[in-house]
Amino acid sequence: MTEDASTSNGAPMIRMVHVDKHFGELHVLKDINLEVDAGQVVVVLGPSGSGKSTLCRAINRLEPIDNGTIEIDGKPLPAEGRDLARLRADVGMVFQSFNLFAHKTILENVTLAPVKVRRSSKADAEERGMELLGRVGIANQRDKYPAQLSGGQQQRAAIARALAMRPKVMLFDEPTSALDPEMVQEVLDVMTGLARDGMTMLVVTHEMGFARRAANRVCFMADGEVVEDASPDEFFTSPRSERAKDFLSKILTH
Ligand SMILES: Nc1ncnc2c1ncn2[C@@H]1O[C@H](COP(=O)(O)OP(=O)(O)OP(=O)(O)O)[C@@H](O)[C@H]1O
Ligand SMILES: [Mg+2]
Repeated sequence: MTEDASTSNGAPMIRMVHVDKHFGELHVLKDINLEVDAGQVVVVLGPSGSGKSTLCRAINRLEPIDNGTIEIDGKPLPAEGRDLARLRADVGMVFQSFNLFAHKTILENVTLAPVKVRRSSKADAEERGMELLGRVGIANQRDKYPAQLSGGQQQRAAIARALAMRPKVMLFDEPTSALDPEMVQEVLDVMTGLARDGMTMLVVTHEMGFARRAANRVCFMADGEVVEDASPDEFFTSPRSERAKDFLSKILTH
């Protein structure tokens, strides 16, 4: 499958301008200005509580923002209603916990939203669903229920389910953190393949190998701010801020 890596209007695929977000008194996103071009892979790093998940959830409008604008493919995110459902369908999200529907088979998990939201026919959704399950290497698991799959297989099913909506952007929030170590690589391999095919991706992860190999940029967050935005090479070999140096010294030696 080839994804079209160009936006319809030359705008960045994701654009956040002066985005602020509070939880009560807590200022969790502070004047975020972030652009991700079509086909780019941005890895977001940062200590616990720095705002990485909130950033993802804001892009997908799972979390309302207080100020600023977020655009996907040149179109501002609407606050609610039908347009929001459509725009949200353009942004696929994969979480740490796989969030599959427990009482649906793997194939049903992948076909449900395309039929309901995209109004695909069942036959088309199943054809596309099988293509995607094949792509993530679990076509033979189609009739099983999520609990019958390994964690790695479930996460690959979750990726296939997100892709079934033909999103323009894929957000990953620590997709391998809940996996047993031997299953991490199979999920990273699927993500690397997606990146190679030109998908625009924003990935929160602690997998530094993936960041080095697959990312075009690393954004380092601390206390709700994007403190550094650099190429992986630049970031890992010469981080500029003390906070990034401190963070790297902790994760690279643990
Ligand atoms: N629903 C919420 N209500 C109140 N505070 C919240 C809520 N969600 C997150 N926070 C707070 O916002 C801050 C940012 O949280 P966030 O989950 O975005 O961090 P994170 O960088 O993803 O951390 P981690 O690496 O632990 O996943 C934290 O201080 C957190 O406690
Ligand atoms: Mg988080």
